[in-house]
Amino acid sequence: MKANTGWFEPTETDRRTRRANRRASRVASRRTAPAKPLSDDEHLPAEIVGLRRGLPLLVDNHRATTRILRIAYPFLAEGGLGANGTYIGNDVFSGGSFVYDPWELYQSRVITNPNLLLAGVIGSGKSSTAKALITRSIALGHRAYVPCDPKGEWTAVAESVGGSVIKLGPGLSTRLNPLDAGSRPSGVGDDDWDRIVRSRRRALLGTLAESTLGRPLSAVEHTALDLAVDRVSRIPVPTIPDVVEVLFSPGLGDGTSEADSRELAHAIRRLVHGDLAGMFDGPSTTRFDPSLPMVSLDSSWIGAGGNDQALRLTLACASSWLEAAVTDPAGGKRFIVYDEGWRVMRDPALLRRMQEQWKLSRAWGVSNILIVHRLSDLAAVGDLGSEARALAEGLLADCSTRIMLRQEPDQLARTATLLGLTDVEVSTIAKLPKGRALWRLPGRSFVVQLVRHAREARLFDTDGRM
Ligand SMILES: Nc1ncnc2c1ncn2[C@@H]1O[C@H](COP(=O)(O)OP(=O)(O)O)[C@@H](O)[C@H]1O
Ligand SMILES: [Mg+2]
Repeated sequence: MKANTGWFEPTETDRRTRRANRRASRVASRRTAPAKPLSDDEHLPAEIVGLRRGLPLLVDNHRATTRILRIAYPFLAEGGLGANGTYIGNDVFSGGSFVYDPWELYQSRVITNPNLLLAGVIGSGKSSTAKALITRSIALGHRAYVPCDPKGEWTAVAESVGGSVIKLGPGLSTRLNPLDAGSRPSGVGDDDWDRIVRSRRRALLGTLAESTLGRPLSAVEHTALDLAVDRVSRIPVPTIPDVVEVLFSPGLGDGTSEADSRELAHAIRRLVHGDLAGMFDGPSTTRFDPSLPMVSLDSSWIGAGGNDQALRLTLACASSWLEAAVTDPAGGKRFIVYDEGWRVMRDPALLRRMQEQWKLSRAWGVSNILIVHRLSDLAAVGDLGSEARALAEGLLADCSTRIMLRQEPDQLARTATLLGLTDVEVSTIAKLPKGRALWRLPGRSFVVQLVRHAREARLFDTDGRM
């Protein structure tokens, strides 16, 4: 027999055998009816077939600890949230990069709203996490406004990204007129714009009055305020002193008497003659430039003394002033940060306003970031069943992304109930080191270690002040 010299030179016997086989199979296929080709799947177990065809897997639920699972299913890891967004740090369990962008995730329906809540003990890295997310997102064209910065710690951050800082406080030369009309978004007609400006002024004055009075306005006070806003709106640049003057003047109309608006006038007067004098009681000395990557309102001069009421009024005025820019849907993707948010939350009037703004955040392209110490801060705003409590808990529901940093042991049970955490998640947040957080999104959670560049570590440092 001739030796087979290799792959390229088949022997004559080989060729003959193959030709015979082909002929035989042609004859066989002609004789039988055209058979359906056997699919690969038919040789496989039903579960695998299900997987291949995208059908639900018909196996019993199986639960095991990660200790077992990593052996049973090696080389499998959580896929993360995709690569579109801002790098935050490492996913502690998978070892991969953790990337987050509220707008991307909202579009891909992973989250139902773009708002974030950060909670953790002092020094756990809440502000650092927010600063990292924001400063890195600016490279993607996002912007950020910080209307509440009682510690003044965002100043260096805003300056480092080319933003501006407005320093507010008694005795400082900066003055903001919260009744400024702001810049009109493109495509808004004269009548619509008048209506928008009027309703913004009305909402702000209502919040200020309710906040200082510590109670909701009566029906007659609402009327008096409406009439006062109508009257001052005839002035080209109305200010708060104009409103106070109108409220003190007799005969506003519609059957209101001077007595009806007296308390209201005294409440708003606090911004003109009280501890907040010189901050909101005249034409603005600065302009808000919405095209800047970041604008921060440094309220450390007010906040440092622990005067939370003054801080709340400042936030109300400042956020109303920012609102003109924020409500422009063409303004791009913007973060609004309420750092030390727990200090401003004990006020139903302000909470109501915040909630209205948050509800609209999706339409405006805004992602709100609320920073609190613990979730019981939300409960501390009022008794169970009170309006304030419902509003605060509504804010929690309006935050699809909850970032839990280390919590005090006595807070764990409450956090677990409010967020529906598993036992494993609870024990994880009890011992998180600095900068590591449980990121909880609907149906998914990640433990993420914030990774900072040396330059960021210097910029975000708040220990230096100690
Ligand atoms: N990932 C981290 N690694 C090391 N130190 C960190 C990390 N994150 C934050 N820190 C430091 O911890 C300190 C407190 O952080 P900060 O974000 O201000 O805390 P919080 O806002 O929760 O009070 C800061 O000085 C910061 O530099
Ligand atoms: Mg902080």
